[in-house]
Amino acid sequence: MNPMPQSSRAPGGTDRPGTVTQTLWAVADLHGAVKDNAGMIDSIRPRDPSDWLIVAGDVAERTELVLQILNRLRKRFACVIWVPGNHELFCRSTDRYQGRAKYDELVAGCRKIDVLTPEDPYPVFDGVTVVPLFTLYDYSFRKTGSTVEQAVQAAHDRQVVMTDQFAIAPFVDIRAWCWDRLAYSIKRLSKVSGPTILINHWPLVIEPVKKLAFPELSLWCGTRHTRAWAQRYGARSVIYGHLHTPGTTVVDGVPHTEVSLGYPREWNRHLQGEWTWPYPVMEVRDA
Ligand SMILES: [Fe+2]
Repeated sequence: MNPMPQSSRAPGGTDRPGTVTQTLWAVADLHGAVKDNAGMIDSIRPRDPSDWLIVAGDVAERTELVLQILNRLRKRFACVIWVPGNHELFCRSTDRYQGRAKYDELVAGCRKIDVLTPEDPYPVFDGVTVVPLFTLYDYSFRKTGSTVEQAVQAAHDRQVVMTDQFAIAPFVDIRAWCWDRLAYSIKRLSKVSGPTILINHWPLVIEPVKKLAFPELSLWCGTRHTRAWAQRYGARSVIYGHLHTPGTTVVDGVPHTEVSLGYPREWNRHLQGEWTWPYPVMEVRDA
């Protein structure tokens, strides 16, 4: 069952009448290659067979393991929606698929196991359109007045650099890919009407990123261009991962909730406090 006792309160903290019949759950940053995370991944179970699950990136690094974990989850949940994180995009020079081709490989693999990706029609949960996004980052979360090159060099100088620089950047122009993804996403989002839930591995706003212990890391944490998306596209909530600092930040009235598991030292700490994981994004009630 779920590792944490699930709250009897609905998401958002409002008590509502009726029995929960279906739940849209969310997790991120499962880091399945870490041995001690296996028990936590195994504990991700539905409350009802009709429940859905969002997996907001960083399942693992190797495609085979990513698909294996997603397939296991798909057998438990009626619907699984996945978006890629940076770890899924990690490559080595000896890999057959690198850069954009690795993402294509993952999407093709998800199709075979019936897991939804940012390339599929958006599913609708109880009248709300659930939108899996893949927008990457473009180093625009940086101090004003410095160029991307200066900001990355400054991070190198302070030895605060994400593995992405060695495992993604050599294989693809990340900024160009990010901007392609933004254009693709806007085109599709502009056709959606009614309320939405936006899902992305990287946060859509900078506020939670500002809380990081090492400000240099913000370069690899998103793009300024998604800032207005929650309001513009009718988001009831935004679900993300990446920072390994689970919790909710309300920005312009919209809750942005990080649902990461993270590494054992992190989730062991979260277990000591108030932490609802997997996170119930939406609940359907029978009254
Ligand atoms: Fe992660």
